[in-house]
Amino acid sequence: MSNTQDRVHLQARKVSFSWDDTPLHWVPGDPFAAHTINVLHLLLPAGERWFVHVYRQVLPLIRDERLREDVIGFIGQEAMHSQAHDEVLPHLKELGLDPTPYTAQIDWFFEKLLGDRTLPPGRARRWWLMERVATIAAIEHYTAFLGNWVLNAEELDRRGADPTMLDLLRWHGAEEVEHRSVAFELFMHVDGGYRRRVRTWALAFATLVFLWQRGARFFMENDPTLVDGRASFKDFYVRGRRGVLPGTGDMLRSIPRYLSRSYHPSQEGCTEQAVAYLAQSPAALAAEKGAA
Ligand SMILES: [Fe+2]
Ligand SMILES: [Fe+2]
Repeated sequence: MSNTQDRVHLQARKVSFSWDDTPLHWVPGDPFAAHTINVLHLLLPAGERWFVHVYRQVLPLIRDERLREDVIGFIGQEAMHSQAHDEVLPHLKELGLDPTPYTAQIDWFFEKLLGDRTLPPGRARRWWLMERVATIAAIEHYTAFLGNWVLNAEELDRRGADPTMLDLLRWHGAEEVEHRSVAFELFMHVDGGYRRRVRTWALAFATLVFLWQRGARFFMENDPTLVDGRASFKDFYVRGRRGVLPGTGDMLRSIPRYLSRSYHPSQEGCTEQAVAYLAQSPAALAAEKGAA
């Protein structure tokens, strides 16, 4: 059941960030935590562009006006997220960390492997579209999880994390919490098969873990300021305990929630908190002023 009082009108905020003062290790003294979060800038530009690409194809299948409106709002927000993360990459390059060897692979992954296949109109084409719609719902379970995490990650403030990066992450995280029900409701509306939900979740989860640990290792190994940069699961686990990265236990506990037959994303995170952050986010406020 969707939570009606939780529903907000989804609008894209035309934010922009100035990266000039953001250091490479924007979590002071903790390159691993900074780079693990930096993996978002590698995955999201291509990933969220792909969401938009897939959803444009689903729009004609929606038979519910409110859901259509939500999906259109979702598309606008994701397009902006993709662009905002993309704009961090030239700054990383200026700081000596060229991300293009990795982003080239991610572009191939989303555009070719998960792109449109030359399928005849009909069952096969619909099957491939539904697989991707279900995959996006699974990924959005994690974007909402991460959004909720970063909104509450006070340890990052205590450690003096860069305010611009924190605002990017929290503006994005807040919009993820805001629109967290859309992808799942769309999947339930056009398909909703439980076996498909489980299958695509397993694939999405395994792929995310694989790409994430590879991305973190890529950054640690290529960081020009580190002599012997490494990334291990233990590093991740320890940061989770400290509160500068999501906790491993919290992540594991979120799995059965998504796979439960009574799952609905409105049970995760808090819309009021997201809306409250957006009302004071420097980037969101500047965007609002610019729009006015
Ligand atoms: Fe997003
Ligand atoms: Fe999202």
